[in-house]
Amino acid sequence: MPDTTLATPLPLPSGQILPNRLMKAALSEGLADAAAGPDERLIRLYSRWADGGYGLVLTGNVMVDGRHLGEPGNVVVEDDRHLEALTRWAKTGQDGGAKIWMQLNHPGRQGNPLAGSGPTVAPSAVGVAIRGVPAPRALTEEEVHEIIARFATSAAVVEEAGFDGVQIHGAHGYLVSQFLSPLSNRRTDAWGGAVENRARFLVEIIRAVRASVRPGFGVGVKLNSADFQRGGFTADDSRAVVSMIADEAVDLIEISGGSYESPAMVGRPAVSASTRAREAYFLEYATAVRELAGTVPLAVTGGFRTRPAMVEAVADGACDVVGLGRPVALDPAAGRSLAAADAGPLVSPALRLPVPDRIKRVMPTLKALEGVLDLQWHTDQLHRMGDGLDPDPARALWRTAATTVRRNGVDALRSRRGR
Ligand SMILES: Cc1cc2nc3c(=O)[nH]c(=O)nc-3n(C[C@H](O)[C@H](O)[C@H](O)COP(=O)(O)O)c2cc1C
Repeated sequence: MPDTTLATPLPLPSGQILPNRLMKAALSEGLADAAAGPDERLIRLYSRWADGGYGLVLTGNVMVDGRHLGEPGNVVVEDDRHLEALTRWAKTGQDGGAKIWMQLNHPGRQGNPLAGSGPTVAPSAVGVAIRGVPAPRALTEEEVHEIIARFATSAAVVEEAGFDGVQIHGAHGYLVSQFLSPLSNRRTDAWGGAVENRARFLVEIIRAVRASVRPGFGVGVKLNSADFQRGGFTADDSRAVVSMIADEAVDLIEISGGSYESPAMVGRPAVSASTRAREAYFLEYATAVRELAGTVPLAVTGGFRTRPAMVEAVADGACDVVGLGRPVALDPAAGRSLAAADAGPLVSPALRLPVPDRIKRVMPTLKALEGVLDLQWHTDQLHRMGDGLDPDPARALWRTAATTVRRNGVDALRSRRGR
């Protein structure tokens, strides 16, 4: 008898039931149309995942403010102007029985000029420590409230379109995580200082979103276990935030880590060799916060590649849901074989520039370029599926470099931007 751990349904606090424990994690698609609404290619892409056997499909990050974009081709939901296309997107995602949640995000100081984003804003006027990224302006108190209201407005539209829930992007160095980190949040008012104050922005967003949707609608949070930066958001901070949001009406906390300055979410430098050896990068942390999360289920994303590791993580109670990112860009139906029976390891190539490591070590720009190309290579696979093609695991990195330059100019290879 095959083990049924991953195929077991999961009831969420709101009453919504996820059909199984596998989650297609958020992957920014870059497939909006010229008006920042969902393009036909985006909907075609989701028809592949809808059929993929996941209990929960998360969309790539969708912006709550059209003036602030994280990546070229982001969908924006700030009112109901795209309701018709959003409705088709939701319905397509649900066709195979999965729940579909939209990830909502504001990039803050990680706003991307290549995406046509204007001057950036952040909790404080502290820039990202990456060359070429302009410094942000500090938000006024009034603007902080306005952004909280935007998350609520977007969630109401997303619900009207038929999505089953939203996930607030509180990880990876975007605005919510900028508020959480003492490195980027130097405010001395009620939004800065002690972790309770730094978490206020996230808590207020959760409350505003909850107040704008019906009780059975899913509300989740993606949270960093830490930023992996000296002086940044620590594991202790993260534990405190988990305790705080466990008291709110949250359905699922997804654990990730890192930011563009330190991309631990995709297992790059900050993740130690011992952590990488355990396959899933943030599992140890999840085990440690399990109790603090109370009745709120936990998802862990980052590094999961083999079925036995996924089964063990859920069976041991380290997490309730297994998030899959890069592998589902190559095998959109991975969830089906994983949930049903024995499946071999998922394909997820380690993409490397053909340059010796010792040279990369002394030339950090090469390392950064490798990181950008890795993200773009996966984005290319999403675009192939949007065009009605199959993913191409053998795609050469130079092809990705050429496509990226054609799409977004040579600057796209310089700055470390992505998800
Ligand atoms: C191309 C690409 C796009 C991504 N876009 C997002 C995003 O929009 N929102 C998000 O929270 N994470 C995003 N991520 C991070 C993934 O959700 C996930 O946390 C990460 O890839 C680690 O999981 P994995 O090891 O299964 O790939 C992205 C990752 C990649 C490779």
